[in-house]
Amino acid sequence: MVKKLWGGRFSKKTEPLVEEFTKSIHYDYKLAAYDVIGSGIHIQVLKKAGLVTPLEANRLDIALQGVYRSIKNGTFKLNRKSEDIHTNIQNILYQKVGDLALKLHTARSRNDQVVFATKFYSKNIITELNVDIKKLVNSVKTLVAENKNVIIPGFTHMQHAQPVYLKDYLSVYIVMLNRDLKRLANINESIHLTMGAGALAGTPIDANKYNEKTPKTLKAIGVSEYIEATTNSLDAVSDRDFIIDILSALSIISMHLSRIAEDLIIWSTKEFNFIEIDEAFCTGSSLMPQKKNPDVLELVRGYSGRLYGNLISVLAIMKGLPLTYNRDMQLDKEPLFNSFEIVSSELKVLAGLIKTLQFNKAKIEESLEDESLYATDLVYYLVNRGIPFTKAHTIIGKLIKYSIDNSIEIKTMTQHELQRFSNKFIKKEIIKLFNPKVSVESKKSIAR
Ligand code: ARG
Repeated sequence: MVKKLWGGRFSKKTEPLVEEFTKSIHYDYKLAAYDVIGSGIHIQVLKKAGLVTPLEANRLDIALQGVYRSIKNGTFKLNRKSEDIHTNIQNILYQKVGDLALKLHTARSRNDQVVFATKFYSKNIITELNVDIKKLVNSVKTLVAENKNVIIPGFTHMQHAQPVYLKDYLSVYIVMLNRDLKRLANINESIHLTMGAGALAGTPIDANKYNEKTPKTLKAIGVSEYIEATTNSLDAVSDRDFIIDILSALSIISMHLSRIAEDLIIWSTKEFNFIEIDEAFCTGSSLMPQKKNPDVLELVRGYSGRLYGNLISVLAIMKGLPLTYNRDMQLDKEPLFNSFEIVSSELKVLAGLIKTLQFNKAKIEESLEDESLYATDLVYYLVNRGIPFTKAHTIIGKLIKYSIDNSIEIKTMTQHELQRFSNKFIKKEIIKLFNPKVSVESKKSIAR
């Protein structure tokens, strides 16, 4: 029989179906360590408030530390019959210190307990994601350094546009990921670890007893977070904005990763053949022996759908919920955990895959022979000789059409042929423009 944290007012046994239906232990066990830390701080608050004696606080603290160690070394006894992780931990404490454990729940409710633990978990995942994002940034940096002088065709609408440096193209990934880091840092800063909300109305303990400058318990495990007394207890138990913020930031990260993945998928096709993905990061086909498929990248692309789903799911759960706590909010955790776990593994696998990418320089050079890539440079050539831009644009448009219709490369046209389009054309100068290096170096607006 598992003890509930409530029940005095009930004369009937809970219907087993209800127990099964209302439980969250099968996912909120991930909050175990954070719940224990919260309890450790709560003990100190109870001691300061004179609600437990220093001796009692000490006994409770020692018991809690034992629970904390068991979580960390994997010996924690998860009881899947418990309603949630908070109940599970409370019951373990009861086994360790008997009735004293029941004092721990003085002036608190799972409503604020769960917010504290989830906020703490969130801060921790942001720290972990920072590390993984930075690792991916470093992988991209390695690739940039290895391919400093490579020029590729740039695309708009997936059509050949203008030549660009591969290093500039790849650096876009770094810029996107740096924005993600900033977004996460802002969210982290906005998450305050508060206590003292109780179920919703606050507690009889003075606010100043909750203000803890990095409590000992946290310092001991290397965390430096300030605990604050809640300024609005009703908001404290009903707010889930921080989860939505994180799910939104994670969705944006996954959107970025899916764009990176899609670039690489396209580049790895036989038609493009710009890159070779290391075999260790590819999978094969059970039927077609020749296949070397970019499944990792496809999953990265696909998972963004899950990420958006998780964000929308919490937004939909919260929509129209009356203040304050409602049990609907228990459903916020699975999407949060799931999104974090997906993005965390995507970042790790992509960091490995990107570091081992090889660019097929011969194929890339071949693609740069397409004259259409230099059409805009030809327009600038005329502009520099006094022709208004739009007029020059039309002239080059006609020149390109003539080249396509007659299957003649502009490079091979005679001076006489060129002058039919504009008397400003000088063949030996035009020829110099069909050069990727000349093209990219002529762009001066980029502050490098
Ligand atoms: N497991 C619950 C949750 O995640 C804890 C809060 C339950 N509170 C209550 N009053 N029934 O939201």
